[in-house]
Amino acid sequence: MAQWIVNYLPTWNIIRISGIAAYVLLFAGVFLGIAQGMPMAKGKPKAVMFKWHTRTTWLAFGLGLVHALTLYIDHYSPFTWGALLIPFTASVHPIGSGLGTLSFYGLVIVLLSSDLRSKLGRKWWFLFHMLSYPVFIGLLVHGMVTGSDAGNIILRMMYVFTGLSIIGITVLRGMLRERKGPEITIGPKWTPSEPAAEQKWVEGYGLAGTVQPKHLK
Ligand code: HEM
Repeated sequence: MAQWIVNYLPTWNIIRISGIAAYVLLFAGVFLGIAQGMPMAKGKPKAVMFKWHTRTTWLAFGLGLVHALTLYIDHYSPFTWGALLIPFTASVHPIGSGLGTLSFYGLVIVLLSSDLRSKLGRKWWFLFHMLSYPVFIGLLVHGMVTGSDAGNIILRMMYVFTGLSIIGITVLRGMLRERKGPEITIGPKWTPSEPAAEQKWVEGYGLAGTVQPKHLK
């Protein structure tokens, strides 16, 4: 029965659709994470952006998992557990698939460290959270070099648009920080015992507020 279902599942379409949807959700998650840290983001809009930042990133993880597991049951070009789990060992698209696996591990670290932030402390949480940038870039390149649809003009434009948007909003936030200097309006209060340089980083990269305060949970 299980084999019958697997044989009739449109696995290739599931792999493509879940991969593209996971990437778009990850883009939304990273974009919202940066946007909610902008100096002008305050109050309810900031809280809503933060909520969707978390939701979209978790959804990206879920769909990324569906995407990878469907590669395992795919009947046309199945992946072994080794090819899925050990980067750069796949016989199909070894580099692109390896990037997918590595980035997926990075995403797991970002999500787990966010859940364990109270145990890790702000400094370690922040350092792990910075992995979001290489994870996003890794998955952008992964989609572009591995995907069967990567030659499609609409998808190419999507990769260019999403990549440029993340660069643009990151630069904009850096510029606004220099002029105005954002204030932490969400998240736990900064404790004076923690180093000032780290606080500057957190503020500069708009990560202030990615630690969810109790009243928003
Ligand atoms: C969150 C994690 C992941 C995301 C967001 C993601 C995203 C994508 C995207 C956007 C595509 C292009 C789809 C297309 O153009 O048709 C793709 C294709 C592909 N991905 Fe991933 N991926 C992830 C994880 C992985 C992992 C862990 C592997 C395991 C090696 C993997 C292997 C592949 C392969 C082999 C393809 C080519 C499928 C085809 O024939 O079109 N991906 N992925």
